[in-house]
Amino acid sequence: MAKHIIAVYPGSFDPVTNGHLDIIERAVPIFDRIIVAVGENLSKKPLFTVDERMAILKKILKRYRNIEVDSFSGLLITFARTKRASVIVRGLRAVSDYDYEFQLALTNRMLDHRIETIFIMTRGRYSFLSSGIAKEIAKNGGDVRKLVPATVERVLKEKFRDRA
Ligand code: PNS
Repeated sequence: MAKHIIAVYPGSFDPVTNGHLDIIERAVPIFDRIIVAVGENLSKKPLFTVDERMAILKKILKRYRNIEVDSFSGLLITFARTKRASVIVRGLRAVSDYDYEFQLALTNRMLDHRIETIFIMTRGRYSFLSSGIAKEIAKNGGDVRKLVPATVERVLKEKFRDRA
């Protein structure tokens, strides 16, 4: 029987950016199913709730038949196991990502060596981009149209208007 490879693409996605979408688009032809999973990063204080982040992702990714949007709390590896995923996908930008990603991948491998972390290198034009940068620009009234999808541009505007 042909192998059915399920991958989890986890992240804070607070909010999703064009950099994340680039990684997702490139992962789509490689795996049979991709679960984009909104997780909790204890070192970050989110702007959007998990439900808001999931709703945004669902809207943007609805045209992909092999993508599912979900969320998890607790350990990523437990979530991946529950979903029968054999791969964790992470995007890599600059060298500055390396230390953290190395630690995350090795910790996850220690917890379950059957689940492999696979890195997809970002396109050069997104190598500087992060959710944090997009939020900072939007918060200060700048133009984020090149950085995030139109839905996200809109919700960022609303969020900062509500907070003003
Ligand atoms: O987009 P981010 O913030 O880099 O995503 C980080 C995330 C959510 C994938 C990571 O913090 C995570 O996996 N959190 C869940 C807890 C966990 O399993 N940590 C790794 C082992 S210590």
